Amino acid sequence: TRSVPPPAELLEIAVEVARDAAATAYRMRAEGVSVAATKSTVTDVVTAADRAVERQVLDALAKQRPDDAVLGEEYGAAEAAAAPSGVRWVVDPIDGTVNYLYAIPYCAVSLAAEVDGEVVAGVVRNIFTGEEWTATAGGGAWRDGRRLRCSTETDPGQALVATGFGYDPGRRSHQARVVAELIPHVRDIRRLGAAALDLCLAAEGRVDAYYEKGLAAWDLAAGGLVAAEAGLRVTGLRGRPPGPDLVIAAPPALFQPLHDRLADLDASGGP
Ligand code: IPD
Ligand code: CA
Ligand code: CA
Ligand code: CA
Repeated sequence: TRSVPPPAELLEIAVEVARDAAATAYRMRAEGVSVAATKSTVTDVVTAADRAVERQVLDALAKQRPDDAVLGEEYGAAEAAAAPSGVRWVVDPIDGTVNYLYAIPYCAVSLAAEVDGEVVAGVVRNIFTGEEWTATAGGGAWRDGRRLRCSTETDPGQALVATGFGYDPGRRSHQARVVAELIPHVRDIRRLGAAALDLCLAAEGRVDAYYEKGLAAWDLAAGGLVAAEAGLRVTGLRGRPPGPDLVIAAPPALFQPLHDRLADLDASGGP
């Protein structure tokens, strides 16, 4: 039988699970951490903590929501054995693994709940600082009890734009060329190292906009909702939904100029 809880209830579960997960990640980092394996390329690393944290999230969700499906970066898709409840959780146990490895305090647990394929609740929690961003569909974006609004900047030339790079060397070269062409036309570029947090910073105007090619569902789900609920337009190129091809998150006034420049630069092209 299908009984989908309201977004606020799903968010409550997400927040509790993400806090415990972030605590585990923090403790494991303090105990010392090393690369456990590499994935798509030598720079695409995974630590024991990435796996342990995702395992903990899977276990916690299985206890509370046994009929839900889960999609995570490290263990992939776990379908509930019972009839699908309509809810799917999307987890990035550690977004910003390279920062985590180097103890740079910019990495997060990202956890979102989808109902029938739409993200309705999400939380992003910085593992080192404890900053926590939440959003529900239609309920706004929040950090630590304060409602968030995106930047009101209207001049693209004064926009601070965050972006990120994938792990594939060919793609990185292409992404670097796009940055080289974009940088004279904006205030500056930030490559901070965690997509989910980049979207949350954009939600409160700590960067003006963000774009990246190659994001996976777990990078985008929670942070994308936080950004959208804070007033940013979150889309792909040419009216497409945001996805692996490209994610642009920009305040309404900056959206078109940034979009058009990224389209001209073929930001979704290359490998
Ligand atoms: C990565 C980070 C990075 C972004 C990459 C992601 P991971 O996620 O979010 O900032 O540029 O595209 O893959 O591997 O650290 O979870
Ligand atoms: Ca990630
Ligand atoms: Ca990750
Ligand atoms: Ca990763």
